[in-house]
Amino acid sequence: MTDERATPRRWSPRTLAAQALGHVDAASRAVVPPIHISTTYLRDPDNQYRSGNVYGRPDNPTVREAEALIAALEGADAAFVFGSGMSAATALFLALAPGDHVIAPKVMYWSLRTWLATEATRWGLAVDLVETADTGALAAAVIPGRTKLVWIETPANPLWTVTDIAASAAIAHAAGAALAVDSTAATPLITRPIEHGADIVMHAATKYLAGHSDVVAGALAVRGPGPLWERVARNRSQLGQILGPFEAFLLIRGMRTLPLRVAAASASALRLAERFSAHPHVAAVLYPGLASHPQHAAALRQMQGGFGGMLSLRVAGGERAAIATAARVALWKRATSLGGVESLIEHRASIEGPGTPCPPDLLRLSTGIEDPDDLFADLDQALRAAHD
Ligand SMILES: Cc1ncc(COP(=O)(O)O)c(C=O)c1O
Repeated sequence: MTDERATPRRWSPRTLAAQALGHVDAASRAVVPPIHISTTYLRDPDNQYRSGNVYGRPDNPTVREAEALIAALEGADAAFVFGSGMSAATALFLALAPGDHVIAPKVMYWSLRTWLATEATRWGLAVDLVETADTGALAAAVIPGRTKLVWIETPANPLWTVTDIAASAAIAHAAGAALAVDSTAATPLITRPIEHGADIVMHAATKYLAGHSDVVAGALAVRGPGPLWERVARNRSQLGQILGPFEAFLLIRGMRTLPLRVAAASASALRLAERFSAHPHVAAVLYPGLASHPQHAAALRQMQGGFGGMLSLRVAGGERAAIATAARVALWKRATSLGGVESLIEHRASIEGPGTPCPPDLLRLSTGIEDPDDLFADLDQALRAAHD
């Protein structure tokens, strides 16, 4: 990989990630390239900018390294990283035109759903929230010629519903719309939506991609950049939604271990899901890797090497028992967010607030890379203590 002529797609995702595409600093031969912090770049004497860098709001080599790695992992033609996952997602919606019709899931990442239902609607998008996991409902909701974007999240917060990417792509494309997938929970190690027909993939890179709960970032990756992507690029450049260089470095460093972290978290999550399925104080376990999951067949089709680190428990005894359980953990961290090396537990309805479709008895678990037996033991004692 030190051969700069090597094409990134020849290597497996694990190799691409471990070497961060094998970039070596041309000037120093450093195998960990420097963080580029300059906000401006030297113009050539003949008045050209041959380096491709002009000004820091659109241009940064460290940011481009992160983007190149994300594009390679997703099998995309290009990627942009942004200052947050929300910044990435909203950049795509704001590249549409007022009056355009968009579809998004009824149950999805709460802040984006709220933004779609309020600000995006006020700005002029016609937003329909649909059970996207129900292919028939999605097909009935698209308006040929008017629907410009179908947005799905799979698996989707916080019920971990799986939406069939290939079926959604076929429906979106037949209507003349693009399909965008929030693939934050799956990561490119488990699902590469573009291989299933998606046009755009979004990540809250704050989560698994960065992986250590110490950087807020977002990403969009695209297949076949067209006019929509060009508007995203123009807005990103003009509005300064770019990620800072230090955060881009942290993101690259985090992604070097992404395959190992995702494999560990997925294996632990499956084990926890199986063990809690038989727990006397758990009413239901929501996890795409369980044969009992309603969309397990779709999960098998589009998730490889595991089903991710996210699962939810519905606690027997309702909301009070769920909150009491979260109060009694010693090892799990009672905190929002997901995808870090440390395991997090959250009473999800509390953070989503009034109007949430999240069941009140639901605890959302982000499985980290700790010993799964420790994780089980801690949550088991918390469930038992809450029910005493
Ligand atoms: C699935 C999903 N999408 C998008 C976001 C938004 O990402 P960020 O918090 O980086 O803006 C989150 C954040 O929790 C998320 O979980």
